[in-house]
Order: sequence, then C-alpha cells, then structure tokens
Amino acid sequence: MTFAELGLSAPTLEALAHLGYEHPTPIQEQAIPPLLEGRDVVGQAQTGTGKTAAFGLPMIEYADPDDPEVQALVLTPTRELCIQVTQALRAYGQRHRVDVVAVFGGAPIRDQAVRLKDAQVVVGTVGRVMDMIDRHHLFLEQARYVVLDEADEMLDLGFLEDVEAILRRCPMGRQTALFSATVPPEIQRLADTFMHDPVTIRVRSATLTIDTVDHHYVEVPDREKPDALVRVLKEERPEQAIVFVRTKVGVDRLGRRLTDAGVRVKTLHGDMPQGQRDGVMIAFKEGRERLLVATDVAARGLDITGVSHVVNYDIPNSPDIYVHRIGRTGRAGESGRAITLITPRQRRELAAIERHARTQIEPWAPGERRTQRERAEREAWRPRHTKPHSRDGVPYAKLILGAGRTDGLEPADVVGAVVDHTHLENDDVRHVRVLERFSFVEVPEPRAREVAEKMSGKRIRGTRLRAEVTNRP
Ligand SMILES: Nc1ncnc2c1ncn2[C@@H]1O[C@H](COP(=O)(O)OP(=O)(O)OP(=O)(O)O)[C@@H](O)[C@H]1O
Ligand SMILES: [Mg+2]
Repeated sequence: MTFAELGLSAPTLEALAHLGYEHPTPIQEQAIPPLLEGRDVVGQAQTGTGKTAAFGLPMIEYADPDDPEVQALVLTPTRELCIQVTQALRAYGQRHRVDVVAVFGGAPIRDQAVRLKDAQVVVGTVGRVMDMIDRHHLFLEQARYVVLDEADEMLDLGFLEDVEAILRRCPMGRQTALFSATVPPEIQRLADTFMHDPVTIRVRSATLTIDTVDHHYVEVPDREKPDALVRVLKEERPEQAIVFVRTKVGVDRLGRRLTDAGVRVKTLHGDMPQGQRDGVMIAFKEGRERLLVATDVAARGLDITGVSHVVNYDIPNSPDIYVHRIGRTGRAGESGRAITLITPRQRRELAAIERHARTQIEPWAPGERRTQRERAEREAWRPRHTKPHSRDGVPYAKLILGAGRTDGLEPADVVGAVVDHTHLENDDVRHVRVLERFSFVEVPEPRAREVAEKMSGKRIRGTRLRAEVTNRP
C-alpha cells in the first residue's frame, strides 16, 4: 500500500517524501480512508506506530487554508505532547498554508492568544483550551474535526468533564476521532455517547507492548533501589533512558541522589516551571542529555528516537501505564529495553502487567546486555568491502585517541564515546583499532576536527581522552 493509494493530495505526498515516510503503517492504512471520508474513528495501535500521522494527515487535508476560522482541534494530556503533535502537524502540512497553533499552560497566555488569531488547526491541553474559550480568544464553532490523542487518558476522570465542555462548543455535525495504544472497554462505551457511528480500528498484534522491546525486572528491597538503578545503568549503558518515578517528590529525590552519585541526569515533572520543562525536553530530544528522571507526565506519546531504555524505578500504577511508559522506547521499528524495579511484595503487580500486556518480563541478569551488545558490534565491525576511505563518496579522516587496551578500552567503548559526544551515528564511525596505548577511529572528514574537540577531555572507562586528527591516512 502507498500513501497515494490512501487518497492523500500531492502536497501531502511531497511532505511525506520529505520526511522519509515510505509506506503507511497499518494504523495509517486503516484509519486514513475513513477519516478522509468524514467518519468518526476510534483507533488503537501499539505505541510508536504512527497514530499521529493517522489522524494528522486527514486533518491537514481537511483544513482549508483560505478559511480563517479554527477548523480542527487536537486535545492532548500534557504540554510536552501538545508541542510535539504541533510540530508533527506542521511537518505534515509543510506544503499547505495551514496555520497550526499550540496552546498549553505555563506559557504566556497573551502570546498564544495573538497566534490564535491566525489559527486554522489548534493543538491544546485541556486546561488552556478552556481558558482560551472563556477569554474569547478561541472559538470552536467551526471546528468540525476533533481528535483526542491518548483518548483513554483524556476521558479519564481528571479530564472528562472539561473535555465534554469543550466538545459541546464544537459543531453538532463534527467529526470526532480517538486514538491511543490502550482503549479500555469503558472508554469505548463512553466514546459511543459523543461519537456518531464510529468505525473502530484495532491493529491486531499478539501483545499490547511492541515486540521489539525486551522486558526485564530486578527484585530488590525498597532501600536498595537506588543502588540497583545505578547498577542497571552501568551495565546497560543506555544511549538514552527515561527513568519513571511515581511522584514528583520522588523524581526530585532520585534526581539528587543520582547527581550525588556522579550520574548526570535531568528531571521532569508537572511542578517545574514550564521554561525549565522545555529546556529539559529540548536537551533530551537533541541527545545532549542521556538520562531523564520523570513522572508519568512523560509516559504518553513522547517520541524521542534515542531512547534505548525505559526504567521503571517505581512500578506503574496500572498495566496500561506500563504499556505507555515502555512505549517511549522501541519506536518506529527500533529495538529497546525495559527494566522494572520491584520489591518482593510487588511480584503480583508484575504478574498482572504480564497478563494484561501479554508480555513476558524476565529477571534481569547483569552481563547479558554486554554480550548482546558485543555480538552486535562484532558484526557491525566486520571489515566492509568498500573503498577504504569513503562511504557514499564522503572522505574519512583518522583520529588518534590517547587511550588503549592498557586503559581497559574496547572498540565498543570508542564507538560509544564518539556517538555519545557528537551528532554522529554508529554507522558514521568506522575502522576502530584499539592498540596498547592508543586507539584509532575513522569519522567523516568534514566532522573530524569537531569530533576531536568534543571528545577531548571526556572520560572513557575512567580515562580522560586526548583526541587529535592525524595527518596520515
Ligand atoms: N509511515 C511512516 N513511515 C516512517 N516513519 C513513520 C511513519 N509514520 C510515523 N512514523 C514515525 O514513527 C514515530 C512514531 O510515531 P507516533 O509518535 O505517531 O506514534 P504513536 O502511534 O502516536 O505512539 P504513542 O502511542 O506512543 O503515542 C515518529 O517518529 C514518526 O515520525
Ligand atoms: Mg501518539
């Protein structure tokens, strides 16, 4: 199936090509045609499988750039997700002249109100949308296409009343769509009360969680959890990880403990000022920060490619929350690892999660990850039969690093360090050779000097590096 066959317009197809989307995902295949026809849709599909585009592409097609009114609305449970969905819709609509505006709490209402004057598509958190309606900055009388992203969360007690109030502001003949990775039966029933003859789409899969994610648990007494976490992080060496903690106070406490233990972390929870939340999210998304300790404010919808690990420092309150938290890794076909810390008394809760998500959660064993990684890296480093100094025509330069086998270095450490401290990816790094006291690595020539600068002074296995570009090939 192609995007063109789904009935999307030429400008949208161009935008998708630009984004590198080649084929629709199953939820997109199934949800886009009925949404384009104007049907109401309840869509359920695993985390990271492209639900945003499933509702977003028809939304962009629907919005008329020559109509100045707000024609479409997306409600999201968190500010971070609101920002992310806004960016996604703008990317899908990059060849249309549709104005997509985000409204969320914690940021100056005046600025958002000014932007709302031009808005044709609004993405908002519930509280701020209500506020904007009350202050007569937002009018929904023409908003005929409404989406609740993370529908089950939006229709949960905390939001339900306000969501209903917002829906009442929209035209009677509106089109409503609900999307989530989890749609419990009571939500489906509730949905029926304010939807019109909805099409229900469930993308069938054996498990609720994505099957490219490995699940593990570590059983420890409560007071040993901090040490267990440090051990897990040391062993696993995540590219990026989100560590979930049940409470805001708990997030702050764990953040401090890790910092004291010399582990660099950032924290995220709902009591932090919005400016700080934004700063943390930007740094994490750009890969400048590796570890994020967060409440469930980060559990839903967030799409960050580098997240290789999710750690449940506290076991989630419900199996569905487990599904969403774990879904922050292993997105769009990538693999990921999930590790849950439990106390002996929480075994039963873990079993309930396994049953509900139809997933096996295995005991975590130190060392296992290392062997897995080494195997993968050995494969990756098998000499390639390509020209020695160019991949896709890019010249390569050789760096010399002032650390080697005597410092405990392994090829994987060198690759890891380059990837960690620069914007290069595994595939850009090649020909690693670890000698007695030195190591060599090749990186694309245009980036070599920058890589050397960024690596110098950084520590690998406790040794501070010196890195220089060599002149010899
Ligand atoms: N057809 C496609 N081809 C390639 N990549 C895609 C396609 N559709 C979506 N993606 C990418 O997949 C990732 C996950 O998409 P998205 O955030 O919409 O997932 P989701 O189903 O909403 O997950 P969640 O349940 O966690 O909210 C994004 O990075 C998105 O850009
Ligand atoms: Mg989503």
